[in-house]
Amino acid sequence: MLSKQLIQRLSTKSLASKNSVRAIQHTRKLATPSAPQGMATTVDAGSGPLSAPKDLDNKAIIAPLDSFGFNITAERKSTDPRRPIYLDAQATTPLDPRVLDKMLPWFTNQYGNPHSRTHVYGWESQDGVEEARAHIAGLIGADAKDIIFTSGATEANNMSIKGVARFNKNRKKHIITTQTEHKCVLDSCRQMQEEGFDVTYLPVQTNGLVSLEELEKAIRPDTSIVSIMAVNNEIGVIQPLKEIGQLLRKYKGIHFHTDAAQALGKIPMSVQDMNIDLMSLSGHKIYGPKGVGALYVRRRPRVRIDPLFSGGGQERGLRSGTVPAPLAIGFGEACRIGKLEMQNDHDRISVLRQRLLDGIIGKLDHVNLNGSETATYPGCTNLSFAFVEGESLLMALNDVALSSGSACTSASLEPSYVLRALGADDTMAHSSLRFGISRFTTEAEIDLVVNKIVGVVNKLRDMSPLWEMVQEGIDLRTVEWSG
Ligand SMILES: Cc1ncc(COP(=O)(O)O)c(C=O)c1O
Repeated sequence: MLSKQLIQRLSTKSLASKNSVRAIQHTRKLATPSAPQGMATTVDAGSGPLSAPKDLDNKAIIAPLDSFGFNITAERKSTDPRRPIYLDAQATTPLDPRVLDKMLPWFTNQYGNPHSRTHVYGWESQDGVEEARAHIAGLIGADAKDIIFTSGATEANNMSIKGVARFNKNRKKHIITTQTEHKCVLDSCRQMQEEGFDVTYLPVQTNGLVSLEELEKAIRPDTSIVSIMAVNNEIGVIQPLKEIGQLLRKYKGIHFHTDAAQALGKIPMSVQDMNIDLMSLSGHKIYGPKGVGALYVRRRPRVRIDPLFSGGGQERGLRSGTVPAPLAIGFGEACRIGKLEMQNDHDRISVLRQRLLDGIIGKLDHVNLNGSETATYPGCTNLSFAFVEGESLLMALNDVALSSGSACTSASLEPSYVLRALGADDTMAHSSLRFGISRFTTEAEIDLVVNKIVGVVNKLRDMSPLWEMVQEGIDLRTVEWSG
């Protein structure tokens, strides 16, 4: 078990008392390197003065891991005790301390290559990885053998689209996806166009959902794969996967892929009920570690893909390369916890979202909720603030870690392509904020953010000549602007 103090420090950043210096009492069952079979050898890793945390608010998060007799410390990079409130859970979720606890031994004593077949180091890592695989499968109603570990959802999406298209290239030349997919899906499709495939980028309705009629119209005899995401990373809308799966079942030989990076552990999903053939998953969107993900690849009936990598033939020959056991095991633990706590998380996050919406929409006019109000994951809420410039808004909100869209595109000043696909005009697409609420977000944080947003939007609007005109009752649509 992770020590109580460490859990507290990891999860309650602001509660930690200043300048408190306390050694972590940490007793862990560790194997010594010389006694690998001695997993029960108890090494007291924490009695005695370990290199103790220094200033809780300032620098120290210290995990005493005395592998080989070294104390390993991890100091926070930031020396600012007042970190911004984190509301960017779609970019990444904080690592659940329970996941970290599960991972730690696999970084230190149990470091075997899970593909080593000749000794206990390998066997125990393999067991850990297989247990993790079962937890991941359990969260999506799959068989453990159908789970292929990857470096993340980007790789899984590339594997699915390129892999299926290339495998079937002699008979099928058509791919269907939507205009609001994650960049890595869209870019994989563009790459396939360069290789001679046709791609249909389906438009979405103003609520962000695909129309089943449009989808059916786009299907061709040579369509090999349909890729439609589960939960959108910018606006949180949930696509009707079950209905899409039912529709595609009618057409033999079309593979249904879904990018479920933002859906795993957030909403119930079943590859069987939804007739999904390939599903991309990511560790760091479900309170697990970064750098690991998975692809569900159906075995019955068997889905065949061209692998992206050549190499040792690990992971059913579909993904060569050593499985990073500590990360995979952390991902598995995150899924185990996710399964147990999904409903509870969802209920809590729904309440927090409502509090956020009531607070903001109750106090500000001309705020638009982007995407469907009902088919949505409450932990991802996207609002546009009319008469406010998005970049100024983000800059003024420097004590809240928020994004105006996906982490991958927020570096560009281009308005979000997702919001434009919904029909938002450029100014509304420019003035949007995505609120990512996580398992660890608190009511107090939501209240602080509401106050901050209301204050900043009012201030920016007070400086805007457009806002002044609106206040004077001028309908801006009737104004003829000189060029
Ligand atoms: C919907 C979606 N797909 C794919 C990805 C990429 O995931 P990863 O970081 O695991 O490669 C993300 C991450 O932002 C995402 O939100």
